[in-house]
Amino acid sequence: MIKSIILAAGKGTRMKSDMPKVLHTIFDKPLVGYVIDAASNTGLVDENYIIVGHQAELVEEYINNNYKNSKCLLQTPQLGTGHAVSMALPYLKEFEGEVIILCGDTPLITSETLKEFINFHKEKASDITVMSAYFDNPANYGRIIRNQDGSVNSIVEEKDANKEQKAVKEINAGIYCINWGKVKSAFSELKNNNAQGEYYLTDIIKWGNTNNLSVNAYTLSDNEEIYGINSKANLAEASKMLNKRTINKLLSEGVTIVAPETTWISPETEIGPDTIIYPSCYINGKNKIGKHCKIGPFAHLRGDVVLEDYVKIGNFVEVKKTTIKSHTNACHLTYLGNSEIGSNVNIGAGTITANYNPLTKVKSKTIIKDNVKIGSNSVLVAPVTIEEGANVGAVGVITKNIPAWALAITRAPLRILENWVTRNK
Ligand code: UD1
Ligand code: CA
Repeated sequence: MIKSIILAAGKGTRMKSDMPKVLHTIFDKPLVGYVIDAASNTGLVDENYIIVGHQAELVEEYINNNYKNSKCLLQTPQLGTGHAVSMALPYLKEFEGEVIILCGDTPLITSETLKEFINFHKEKASDITVMSAYFDNPANYGRIIRNQDGSVNSIVEEKDANKEQKAVKEINAGIYCINWGKVKSAFSELKNNNAQGEYYLTDIIKWGNTNNLSVNAYTLSDNEEIYGINSKANLAEASKMLNKRTINKLLSEGVTIVAPETTWISPETEIGPDTIIYPSCYINGKNKIGKHCKIGPFAHLRGDVVLEDYVKIGNFVEVKKTTIKSHTNACHLTYLGNSEIGSNVNIGAGTITANYNPLTKVKSKTIIKDNVKIGSNSVLVAPVTIEEGANVGAVGVITKNIPAWALAITRAPLRILENWVTRNK
């Protein structure tokens, strides 16, 4: 199996944030999480080494809590990308296979591209493969310098480049696949005699050529995949790109999305064909939505939501950590959280599952069985079960389990005081 090294020690000054750059999120998932997942989802990578520096504790905490196959390695001070990779040397002493090197701030890279990249490296029997891309405006990137025969000679950083080199539009995407056994010794030989006084990872290209290794470049077809995050504007743009990618995929799979420009759907949401997503929905986290559902307008799915077929989630309905069986409707102004809801259920307007006890900080479950009708403006105080076919009258405050086919009413009886207004004028 392949190992990955993910560079994430940099400061990210332009984010103007108290948080480390790679912990900024898209759909609540940190940027570095996207990169780890892209590597892991190739099915070819079994371990990730994350190089951390600035606010290392915070990044480490996130990684340790979320990724069992990933280890953070501290780089202090940060002396450059080559120095960053060398932090992994003690951990990969015996390792002889391939290592891919990625950046923690390029969340749009896909596992499909990484797979293709690794296959290219293997087919070419390459020792060092760098990912390149063609940019109309290559400013600030390292330039790929090719030999007459098309082989890769070196990478020259913008700050070290002469006029002729600056004119090159083929850039270094910052992703590498290397034969670790053959290349690892390069990391102890890198020099920092360059414009930035840094140990450049890019210098392994020259080193590889000097040491008669096979050095190649794989050219990326979709430049979007290496879009890097350096500012909040970049973050907003990347969110948009990722959303568009998800929406296009869902459209191609037969989902109707009425207004893609106002719809946000996380990449971890599956939606069945013939489901309609109306304008201005925000669908976050991991969700599975069936066929022929209707969602929105203005619905908010917050993750861990499973909807079977023919479910309706209408306007101003928020759903979290909830399973809903087929042909159930929650059409207006409702919160459903920590719930299991059966099929053919009608959830009246303004229904709330009160699942959180702020005193004990415990969240409890609401269970609603098949064919239940919940009247408008009801509060279901969890833990609570509404058994099959039961009805809850409007404005029900339900604190006990309701047996099957019963009617539960909790409201005060209606009183009509004749002529009360004229008498009190
Ligand atoms: C680097 C490449 C450049 C390439 C570009 C692609 C080098 C010398 N240059 O330039 O050819 O076109 O990426 O985006 O590699 N990092 C560390 N420790 C360090 C320095 C950096 O972990 O000591 C991390 C940063 O957090 C970042 C990544 O490495 O995630 C890239 O570093 P950065 O300084 O942004 O490199 P560039 O100058 O953009
Ligand atoms: Ca730099």
